[in-house]
Amino acid sequence: MHLTHAEERILQGEKGPAQQRAMEMLVALGDLFGAEGLIPITSAHVSGVSYKTIREGGLRWLKDLAREGAVVSVPSTLNPCGRDPNHWEEMGVDLHFHERQSEILRAYAKMGLEMLCTCTPFLIGRSPDFGDHVASAESANCIFLNSGIGARTNREGGPSALAAAIIGKTANYGLHLDENRKAQVVVEVKLEKERKHPDFPVVGTIIGEAVETKVPYIRGVSPSDDDLKNFGAAMAAWGSLSLFHVDGVTPEAADQDLAGLERITITDKDVEARRRELSDARLDEVDLIAFGCPHLSVEELIDMATFLEGRERIRPGVDLWLSTSRVVAQSLRKEVQVIERFGHVLVDTCQVVTPVENKHKVTGLNSAKAAFYMVKEGFGSQRVFYGSTEELLSWVSRPKAG
Ligand code: F3S
Repeated sequence: MHLTHAEERILQGEKGPAQQRAMEMLVALGDLFGAEGLIPITSAHVSGVSYKTIREGGLRWLKDLAREGAVVSVPSTLNPCGRDPNHWEEMGVDLHFHERQSEILRAYAKMGLEMLCTCTPFLIGRSPDFGDHVASAESANCIFLNSGIGARTNREGGPSALAAAIIGKTANYGLHLDENRKAQVVVEVKLEKERKHPDFPVVGTIIGEAVETKVPYIRGVSPSDDDLKNFGAAMAAWGSLSLFHVDGVTPEAADQDLAGLERITITDKDVEARRRELSDARLDEVDLIAFGCPHLSVEELIDMATFLEGRERIRPGVDLWLSTSRVVAQSLRKEVQVIERFGHVLVDTCQVVTPVENKHKVTGLNSAKAAFYMVKEGFGSQRVFYGSTEELLSWVSRPKAG
Protein backbone atom coordinates (compact mmCIF):
# COMPACT_ATOMS: atom_id res chain seq x y z
CA MET A 1 0.00 0.00 0.00
CA HIS A 2 1.35 3.44 -0.87
CA LEU A 3 1.75 5.80 2.11
CA THR A 4 2.54 9.52 2.05
CA HIS A 5 5.64 10.74 3.91
CA ALA A 6 3.46 11.99 6.77
CA GLU A 7 1.73 8.60 7.02
CA GLU A 8 5.10 6.80 6.94
CA ARG A 9 6.32 8.93 9.84
CA ILE A 10 3.25 8.00 11.90
CA LEU A 11 3.96 4.35 11.11
CA GLN A 12 7.55 4.80 12.33
CA GLY A 13 6.20 6.10 15.66
CA GLU A 14 6.97 9.79 15.27
CA LYS A 15 3.58 10.76 16.70
CA GLY A 16 3.63 8.32 19.57
CA PRO A 17 2.70 4.70 20.20
CA ALA A 18 -1.09 5.12 19.98
CA GLN A 19 -1.02 6.67 16.50
CA GLN A 20 1.59 4.13 15.47
CA ARG A 21 -0.61 1.20 16.57
CA ALA A 22 -3.63 2.70 14.79
CA MET A 23 -1.64 3.20 11.60
CA GLU A 24 -0.27 -0.34 11.77
CA MET A 25 -3.84 -1.65 11.89
CA LEU A 26 -4.96 0.42 8.88
CA VAL A 27 -1.92 -0.64 6.87
CA ALA A 28 -2.46 -4.31 7.71
CA LEU A 29 -6.10 -4.07 6.59
CA GLY A 30 -5.22 -2.12 3.47
CA ASP A 31 -2.57 -4.68 2.49
CA LEU A 32 -4.96 -7.54 3.13
CA PHE A 33 -7.67 -6.05 0.90
CA GLY A 34 -5.36 -4.65 -1.78
CA ALA A 35 -5.95 -0.95 -1.06
CA GLU A 36 -3.69 1.44 -2.93
CA GLY A 37 -3.60 3.92 -0.08
CA LEU A 38 -5.51 5.67 2.69
CA ILE A 39 -8.44 8.02 2.17
CA PRO A 40 -9.57 10.82 4.56
CA ILE A 41 -12.83 10.25 6.45
CA THR A 42 -15.30 12.80 7.79
CA SER A 43 -16.53 10.76 10.78
CA ALA A 44 -16.39 7.34 12.45
CA HIS A 45 -18.70 5.08 14.40
CA VAL A 46 -17.09 2.65 16.83
CA SER A 47 -18.50 -0.63 18.15
CA GLY A 48 -17.05 -2.88 20.85
CA VAL A 49 -18.52 -0.85 23.70
CA SER A 50 -20.39 -3.38 25.81
CA TYR A 51 -18.50 -5.23 28.52
CA LYS A 52 -20.54 -8.25 27.46
CA THR A 53 -18.83 -8.35 24.07
CA ILE A 54 -15.28 -7.12 24.78
CA ARG A 55 -14.72 -8.40 28.36
CA GLU A 56 -11.40 -7.89 30.21
CA GLY A 57 -9.17 -8.17 27.14
CA GLY A 58 -11.00 -5.41 25.30
CA LEU A 59 -11.12 -3.18 28.34
CA ARG A 60 -7.34 -3.56 28.83
CA TRP A 61 -6.71 -2.73 25.17
CA LEU A 62 -8.83 0.42 25.36
CA LYS A 63 -7.22 1.58 28.60
CA ASP A 64 -3.74 1.05 27.13
CA LEU A 65 -4.65 3.05 24.02
CA ALA A 66 -6.10 5.87 26.13
CA ARG A 67 -3.02 5.87 28.40
CA GLU A 68 -0.77 6.09 25.35
CA GLY A 69 -2.55 9.29 24.36
CA ALA A 70 -4.89 8.08 21.61
CA VAL A 71 -7.37 10.79 20.61
CA VAL A 72 -9.84 10.70 17.75
CA SER A 73 -9.26 13.24 15.01
CA VAL A 74 -12.75 13.21 13.43
CA PRO A 75 -16.24 13.33 15.04
CA SER A 76 -16.79 9.82 16.38
CA THR A 77 -19.83 8.15 17.91
CA LEU A 78 -20.20 4.98 19.96
CA ASN A 79 -22.42 1.93 19.64
CA PRO A 80 -24.71 0.86 22.53
CA CYS A 81 -23.07 -0.32 25.73
CA GLY A 82 -24.19 -3.07 28.11
CA ARG A 83 -26.55 -1.17 30.38
CA ASP A 84 -28.81 1.83 30.81
CA PRO A 85 -27.13 4.22 33.30
CA ASN A 86 -30.34 4.59 35.33
CA HIS A 87 -32.12 1.25 34.98
CA TRP A 88 -29.22 -1.23 35.12
CA GLU A 89 -30.38 -2.91 38.33
CA GLU A 90 -33.91 -3.50 37.02
CA MET A 91 -32.32 -4.88 33.85
CA GLY A 92 -30.60 -7.59 35.91
CA VAL A 93 -27.10 -6.14 35.43
CA ASP A 94 -24.80 -6.78 38.40
CA LEU A 95 -22.49 -4.25 40.07
CA HIS A 96 -19.29 -5.80 38.66
CA PHE A 97 -20.62 -5.51 35.09
CA HIS A 98 -21.86 -1.96 35.74
CA GLU A 99 -18.45 -0.85 37.05
CA ARG A 100 -16.51 -2.47 34.22
CA GLN A 101 -18.92 -0.88 31.74
CA SER A 102 -18.23 2.53 33.30
CA GLU A 103 -14.47 1.96 32.91
CA ILE A 104 -14.93 1.20 29.20
CA LEU A 105 -16.91 4.40 28.73
CA ARG A 106 -14.28 6.43 30.60
CA ALA A 107 -11.57 5.08 28.27
CA TYR A 108 -13.59 6.09 25.21
CA ALA A 109 -14.36 9.51 26.72
CA LYS A 110 -10.64 10.07 27.33
CA MET A 111 -10.05 9.38 23.62
CA GLY A 112 -12.58 12.04 22.68
CA LEU A 113 -15.51 9.96 21.42
CA GLU A 114 -18.97 11.43 21.82
CA MET A 115 -20.73 9.74 24.74
CA LEU A 116 -23.98 8.96 22.91
CA CYS A 117 -24.19 5.19 22.75
CA THR A 118 -26.51 4.42 19.87
CA CYS A 119 -26.49 2.29 16.72
CA THR A 120 -28.54 4.93 14.88
CA PRO A 121 -26.46 8.12 15.12
CA PHE A 122 -27.96 9.10 11.74
CA LEU A 123 -31.29 9.65 13.54
CA ILE A 124 -29.85 12.28 15.88
CA GLY A 125 -28.03 14.63 13.57
CA ARG A 126 -24.75 12.68 13.36
CA SER A 127 -25.16 11.72 9.75
CA PRO A 128 -22.62 11.98 6.94
CA ASP A 129 -23.61 13.47 3.60
CA PHE A 130 -23.97 11.73 0.27
CA GLY A 131 -20.53 10.73 -1.03
CA ASP A 132 -18.71 11.23 2.30
CA HIS A 133 -16.13 8.59 3.17
CA VAL A 134 -16.56 7.38 6.75
CA ALA A 135 -15.49 4.40 8.89
CA SER A 136 -18.43 2.69 10.53
CA ALA A 137 -18.52 -0.42 12.64
CA GLU A 138 -22.02 -1.76 13.52
CA SER A 139 -23.54 -3.51 10.54
CA ALA A 140 -26.96 -1.80 10.91
CA ASN A 141 -25.42 1.68 10.86
CA CYS A 142 -23.01 0.78 8.09
CA ILE A 143 -25.69 -0.53 5.72
CA PHE A 144 -27.97 2.46 6.36
CA LEU A 145 -25.17 4.97 5.68
CA ASN A 146 -24.22 3.25 2.43
CA SER A 147 -27.74 2.57 1.20
CA GLY A 148 -30.07 5.20 2.67
CA ILE A 149 -27.64 8.12 2.54
CA GLY A 150 -25.08 7.21 -0.12
CA ALA A 151 -22.11 7.74 2.21
CA ARG A 152 -19.25 5.26 1.79
CA THR A 153 -18.03 2.85 4.43
CA ASN A 154 -16.84 -0.70 4.71
CA ARG A 155 -18.20 -2.89 7.46
CA GLU A 156 -15.50 -2.10 9.98
CA GLY A 157 -14.76 -3.96 13.16
CA GLY A 158 -14.65 -1.95 16.39
CA PRO A 159 -10.81 -1.75 16.51
CA SER A 160 -10.42 -0.78 12.84
CA ALA A 161 -13.12 1.92 13.15
CA LEU A 162 -11.31 3.28 16.21
CA ALA A 163 -7.97 3.19 14.37
CA ALA A 164 -9.55 5.12 11.49
CA ALA A 165 -11.06 7.63 13.94
CA ILE A 166 -7.61 8.23 15.49
CA ILE A 167 -5.80 8.68 12.17
CA GLY A 168 -8.72 10.40 10.41
CA LYS A 169 -8.31 8.07 7.42
CA THR A 170 -9.21 4.56 6.34
CA ALA A 171 -7.88 2.11 3.77
CA ASN A 172 -9.36 2.86 0.35
CA TYR A 173 -10.93 -0.41 -0.78
CA GLY A 174 -14.34 -2.14 -0.94
CA LEU A 175 -17.36 0.17 -0.79
CA HIS A 176 -15.20 3.31 -0.96
CA LEU A 177 -14.70 2.51 -4.65
CA ASP A 178 -17.31 3.13 -7.37
CA GLU A 179 -16.92 -0.31 -8.95
CA ASN A 180 -17.94 -2.11 -5.75
CA ARG A 181 -21.19 -0.15 -5.33
CA LYS A 182 -22.87 -1.56 -8.42
CA ALA A 183 -25.93 -3.82 -8.17
CA GLN A 184 -25.04 -7.47 -8.71
CA VAL A 185 -28.42 -9.19 -8.36
CA VAL A 186 -32.03 -8.05 -8.91
CA VAL A 187 -34.54 -8.97 -6.18
CA GLU A 188 -38.21 -8.81 -7.17
CA VAL A 189 -40.46 -8.62 -4.10
CA LYS A 190 -43.87 -9.84 -5.26
CA LEU A 191 -46.17 -9.81 -2.25
CA GLU A 192 -49.94 -9.90 -2.56
CA LYS A 193 -50.94 -10.12 1.11
CA GLU A 194 -48.55 -7.47 2.41
CA ARG A 195 -48.33 -5.31 -0.68
CA LYS A 196 -48.97 -2.03 1.16
CA HIS A 197 -46.66 -2.58 4.08
CA PRO A 198 -44.44 -5.64 3.90
CA ASP A 199 -42.82 -7.08 7.01
CA PHE A 200 -39.50 -5.48 6.10
CA PRO A 201 -37.35 -7.23 8.73
CA VAL A 202 -38.57 -10.63 7.51
CA VAL A 203 -38.09 -9.76 3.83
CA GLY A 204 -34.63 -8.47 4.79
CA THR A 205 -33.63 -11.83 6.28
CA ILE A 206 -34.58 -13.60 3.05
CA ILE A 207 -32.63 -11.17 0.89
CA GLY A 208 -29.60 -11.17 3.20
CA GLU A 209 -29.41 -14.95 3.22
CA ALA A 210 -29.96 -15.23 -0.55
CA VAL A 211 -27.44 -12.63 -1.73
CA GLU A 212 -24.78 -13.07 1.01
CA THR A 213 -22.19 -10.44 -0.02
CA LYS A 214 -23.65 -9.34 -3.38
CA VAL A 215 -25.23 -5.88 -3.76
CA PRO A 216 -28.98 -6.33 -4.39
CA TYR A 217 -31.22 -4.05 -6.44
CA ILE A 218 -34.67 -4.44 -4.88
CA ARG A 219 -37.93 -3.86 -6.69
CA GLY A 220 -41.55 -3.98 -5.55
CA VAL A 221 -41.27 -2.18 -2.19
CA SER A 222 -41.39 1.46 -1.06
CA PRO A 223 -39.79 1.59 2.38
CA SER A 224 -39.90 4.71 4.58
CA ASP A 225 -36.70 5.83 6.34
CA ASP A 226 -37.60 3.73 9.40
CA ASP A 227 -38.37 0.76 7.17
CA LEU A 228 -34.98 1.18 5.48
CA LYS A 229 -33.31 1.14 8.90
CA ASN A 230 -35.03 -2.08 9.95
CA PHE A 231 -34.83 -3.68 6.48
CA GLY A 232 -31.10 -3.04 6.20
CA ALA A 233 -30.35 -4.25 9.73
CA ALA A 234 -32.02 -7.59 8.93
CA MET A 235 -30.18 -7.95 5.61
CA ALA A 236 -26.83 -7.17 7.21
CA ALA A 237 -27.42 -9.64 10.05
CA TRP A 238 -28.60 -12.53 7.86
CA GLY A 239 -26.08 -11.87 5.08
CA SER A 240 -22.77 -10.08 4.95
CA LEU A 241 -23.86 -7.25 2.72
CA SER A 242 -23.43 -3.57 3.54
CA LEU A 243 -25.18 -1.92 0.59
CA PHE A 244 -28.49 -2.35 -1.19
CA HIS A 245 -30.40 -0.28 -3.71
CA VAL A 246 -34.19 0.10 -3.75
CA ASP A 247 -35.85 1.07 -7.00
CA GLY A 248 -37.04 4.68 -6.80
CA VAL A 249 -36.02 5.07 -3.15
CA THR A 250 -32.29 4.96 -2.37
CA PRO A 251 -29.95 7.62 -3.74
CA GLU A 252 -27.75 5.47 -5.98
CA ALA A 253 -30.54 3.30 -7.41
CA ALA A 254 -31.01 5.38 -10.54
CA ASP A 255 -27.36 4.87 -11.58
CA GLN A 256 -27.56 1.08 -11.75
CA ASP A 257 -27.27 -1.01 -14.90
CA LEU A 258 -29.39 -4.12 -14.41
CA ALA A 259 -28.80 -5.78 -17.78
CA GLY A 260 -27.85 -9.43 -17.51
CA LEU A 261 -28.01 -9.62 -13.71
CA GLU A 262 -29.18 -12.73 -11.87
CA ARG A 263 -32.80 -12.41 -10.61
CA ILE A 264 -34.41 -13.61 -7.39
CA THR A 265 -38.14 -13.46 -6.58
CA ILE A 266 -39.65 -13.28 -3.08
CA THR A 267 -43.29 -14.26 -2.58
CA ASP A 268 -45.82 -14.39 0.27
CA LYS A 269 -44.94 -18.04 0.77
CA ASP A 270 -41.29 -17.22 1.46
CA VAL A 271 -42.25 -14.49 3.93
CA GLU A 272 -44.74 -16.68 5.80
CA ALA A 273 -42.24 -19.54 6.05
CA ARG A 274 -39.45 -17.28 7.34
CA ARG A 275 -41.75 -15.59 9.88
CA ARG A 276 -42.60 -19.01 11.31
CA GLU A 277 -38.93 -19.99 11.44
CA LEU A 278 -37.98 -16.88 13.41
CA SER A 279 -39.85 -17.97 16.54
CA ASP A 280 -38.74 -20.90 18.64
CA ALA A 281 -41.06 -20.01 21.55
CA ARG A 282 -44.75 -19.18 22.00
CA LEU A 283 -46.04 -15.75 22.95
CA ASP A 284 -47.37 -17.07 26.26
CA GLU A 285 -43.83 -18.14 27.24
CA VAL A 286 -42.34 -14.66 26.81
CA ASP A 287 -40.92 -12.96 29.94
CA LEU A 288 -39.49 -9.91 28.15
CA ILE A 289 -40.74 -7.88 25.21
CA ALA A 290 -37.94 -5.83 23.69
CA PHE A 291 -38.17 -3.27 20.89
CA GLY A 292 -35.48 -1.07 19.43
CA CYS A 293 -33.09 -3.14 17.35
CA PRO A 294 -31.90 -0.95 15.71
CA HIS A 295 -32.57 1.88 18.17
CA LEU A 296 -36.02 3.42 17.84
CA SER A 297 -36.64 6.66 15.98
CA VAL A 298 -38.78 9.55 17.24
CA GLU A 299 -41.64 8.39 15.00
CA GLU A 300 -41.47 4.79 16.17
CA LEU A 301 -41.53 5.81 19.84
CA ILE A 302 -44.42 8.19 19.25
CA ASP A 303 -46.37 5.40 17.50
CA MET A 304 -45.82 3.06 20.44
CA ALA A 305 -46.77 5.69 23.03
CA THR A 306 -49.88 6.52 21.03
CA PHE A 307 -50.86 2.85 20.95
CA LEU A 308 -50.37 2.52 24.73
CA GLU A 309 -52.15 5.72 25.73
CA GLY A 310 -55.61 4.85 27.01
CA ARG A 311 -54.54 1.29 27.79
CA GLU A 312 -53.58 -0.36 31.08
CA ARG A 313 -50.82 -2.78 32.03
CA ILE A 314 -51.53 -6.48 32.22
CA ARG A 315 -49.18 -9.44 32.75
CA PRO A 316 -46.89 -7.80 35.34
CA GLY A 317 -44.47 -10.74 35.06
CA VAL A 318 -43.51 -9.70 31.51
CA ASP A 319 -40.98 -6.85 31.24
CA LEU A 320 -41.17 -4.31 28.42
CA TRP A 321 -38.00 -2.57 27.15
CA LEU A 322 -37.83 0.03 24.40
CA SER A 323 -34.26 0.88 23.41
CA THR A 324 -33.33 4.20 21.85
CA SER A 325 -30.72 6.94 22.01
CA ARG A 326 -30.76 9.38 24.90
CA VAL A 327 -31.27 12.23 22.41
CA VAL A 328 -34.51 10.69 21.13
CA ALA A 329 -35.70 9.83 24.65
CA GLN A 330 -35.00 13.34 25.92
CA SER A 331 -36.94 14.87 23.06
CA LEU A 332 -40.08 12.86 23.91
CA ARG A 333 -40.66 13.34 27.64
CA LYS A 334 -44.45 13.03 27.40
CA GLU A 335 -44.31 9.84 25.35
CA VAL A 336 -41.64 8.38 27.63
CA GLN A 337 -43.92 8.99 30.62
CA VAL A 338 -46.73 7.08 28.91
CA ILE A 339 -44.43 4.16 28.09
CA GLU A 340 -42.90 4.08 31.60
CA ARG A 341 -46.33 3.01 32.93
CA PHE A 342 -45.77 -0.25 31.06
CA GLY A 343 -42.00 -0.74 31.13
CA HIS A 344 -38.73 1.10 30.50
CA VAL A 345 -37.42 3.33 27.77
CA LEU A 346 -33.76 2.29 27.85
CA VAL A 347 -30.97 4.52 26.57
CA ASP A 348 -27.33 3.76 25.65
CA THR A 349 -28.00 0.01 25.44
CA CYS A 350 -30.04 -2.73 23.77
CA GLN A 351 -31.37 -6.21 24.48
CA VAL A 352 -28.56 -7.89 22.54
CA VAL A 353 -25.50 -6.30 24.17
CA THR A 354 -26.80 -6.35 27.76
CA PRO A 355 -26.60 -9.55 29.85
CA VAL A 356 -30.29 -10.22 29.20
CA GLU A 357 -29.88 -13.84 30.28
CA ASN A 358 -29.37 -12.76 33.91
CA LYS A 359 -33.09 -12.17 34.21
CA HIS A 360 -34.88 -13.45 31.11
CA LYS A 361 -35.22 -16.68 29.17
CA VAL A 362 -37.73 -15.92 26.40
CA THR A 363 -37.84 -12.62 24.51
CA GLY A 364 -40.65 -11.25 22.33
CA LEU A 365 -39.21 -9.24 19.41
CA ASN A 366 -40.23 -7.33 16.32
CA SER A 367 -36.62 -7.30 15.10
CA ALA A 368 -35.26 -10.03 12.85
CA LYS A 369 -31.74 -8.80 13.56
CA ALA A 370 -32.20 -9.25 17.30
CA ALA A 371 -33.72 -12.69 16.68
CA PHE A 372 -30.62 -13.63 14.69
CA TYR A 373 -28.19 -12.57 17.40
CA MET A 374 -30.15 -13.79 20.40
CA VAL A 375 -30.82 -17.23 18.94
CA LYS A 376 -28.48 -18.07 16.07
CA GLU A 377 -25.44 -16.27 17.47
CA GLY A 378 -26.26 -17.22 21.05
CA PHE A 379 -26.04 -13.68 22.48
CA GLY A 380 -28.01 -13.99 25.69
CA SER A 381 -29.00 -17.61 24.96
CA GLN A 382 -32.64 -16.67 24.57
CA ARG A 383 -35.57 -18.39 22.95
CA VAL A 384 -37.61 -15.86 21.01
CA PHE A 385 -41.09 -15.11 19.75
CA TYR A 386 -41.18 -12.89 16.66
CA GLY A 387 -44.31 -10.79 16.26
CA SER A 388 -45.60 -7.42 15.12
CA THR A 389 -45.31 -4.36 17.34
CA GLU A 390 -49.08 -4.30 17.81
CA GLU A 391 -49.29 -7.99 18.67
CA LEU A 392 -46.56 -7.70 21.29
CA LEU A 393 -47.83 -4.47 22.86
CA SER A 394 -51.33 -5.97 23.02
CA TRP A 395 -49.92 -8.88 25.01
CA VAL A 396 -48.89 -6.60 27.90
CA SER A 397 -51.74 -4.06 27.72
CA ARG A 398 -55.49 -3.81 27.25
CA PRO A 399 -57.89 -0.90 26.71
CA LYS A 400 -58.79 0.76 30.01
CA ALA A 401 -62.22 -0.24 31.20
CA GLY A 402 -64.83 2.53 30.87
FE1 F3S B 1 -28.40 -1.76 17.62
FE2 F3S B 1 -28.19 -3.56 19.50
FE3 F3S B 1 -29.58 -4.07 17.36
S1 F3S B 1 -26.59 -2.29 18.76
S2 F3S B 1 -28.74 -2.86 15.73
S3 F3S B 1 -30.02 -2.49 18.90
S4 F3S B 1 -28.12 -5.43 18.30
